[in-house]
Amino acid sequence: MSLQGKKVVIVGGSSGIGYATAAMAKAQGAEVVIASRAGARLDAAAKALGVRAIPADVTGDEAVENLFRQTGAVDHVAVTAAQLKAGPFKTQPIAEAKATMEGKFWGSWRVARFAEFRPGGSLTIVSGFLSIRPRPNSAIVGAANGALEALARSLAIDLAPVRVNAVSPGIIDTPIRAAMPEDARKAMLDKIAAGLPVGRVGLADDIALQILAFMQNGFATGSIVYIDGGGTIA
Ligand SMILES: NC(=O)c1ccc[n+]([C@@H]2O[C@H](COP(=O)([O-])OP(=O)(O)OC[C@H]3O[C@@H](n4cnc5c(N)ncnc54)[C@H](OP(=O)(O)O)[C@@H]3O)[C@@H](O)[C@H]2O)c1
Repeated sequence: MSLQGKKVVIVGGSSGIGYATAAMAKAQGAEVVIASRAGARLDAAAKALGVRAIPADVTGDEAVENLFRQTGAVDHVAVTAAQLKAGPFKTQPIAEAKATMEGKFWGSWRVARFAEFRPGGSLTIVSGFLSIRPRPNSAIVGAANGALEALARSLAIDLAPVRVNAVSPGIIDTPIRAAMPEDARKAMLDKIAAGLPVGRVGLADDIALQILAFMQNGFATGSIVYIDGGGTIA
């Protein structure tokens, strides 16, 4: 199924996996709209990609409703937006854990609720491998990812014939870790890469490829695909 002329909305398209997905969809001839919080990052991404940008903070019902009022009916939507705050379970402020859920889980919920799809349309949610491969101090992120994977399966029923799938990335080198000191970030990624069967961490394009596959494969719905360089089996 070609993306030529299809309207594709990437919520979280200003950076990382979302940006790569927007670029790939545009290269395949789609009419792409990116959305994220209002600001210089969204504007710069829209300019670099040559696509339309609509500011929308996924933590607000009205903002997401307004996004899809502006786009009208769409063919394919992917949600990559997330602001994550992890920390030790016993001491992480509960407000931080709730904020993680608000953006990552409820953000996707809102997008699913307000997007209107044309025939043949699809929604792709991005979760993360912590759902099935927990790591210390990230219980809230694992829980959000697990909830999203369950949501994708449920929505594949409730929104049918709209197809709904989830891609669950492993460790991907994106600006999500930009706040870490560069040396520490590189050392951490090198260590993870050495333990993976593929010998490297992921690139944003590795996940974008799967998102585009979900958009184009008319038989895929209710699927959860782990793209993690073997991280869940290593
Ligand atoms: N990178 C990894 O290792 C990894 C692993 C597993 C899962 N994932 C998941 O993959 C997804 C994409 O991650 P990434 O690595 O591409 O991260 P990223 O480069 O930090 O991109 C995150 C995107 O989310 C947007 N965003 C953040 N808060 C938002 C909000 N409240 N409303 C709307 N947009 C918001 C950001 O845009 P603005 O700042 O412009 O708002 C940005 O476009 C996330 O769900 C992440 O949890 C990533």
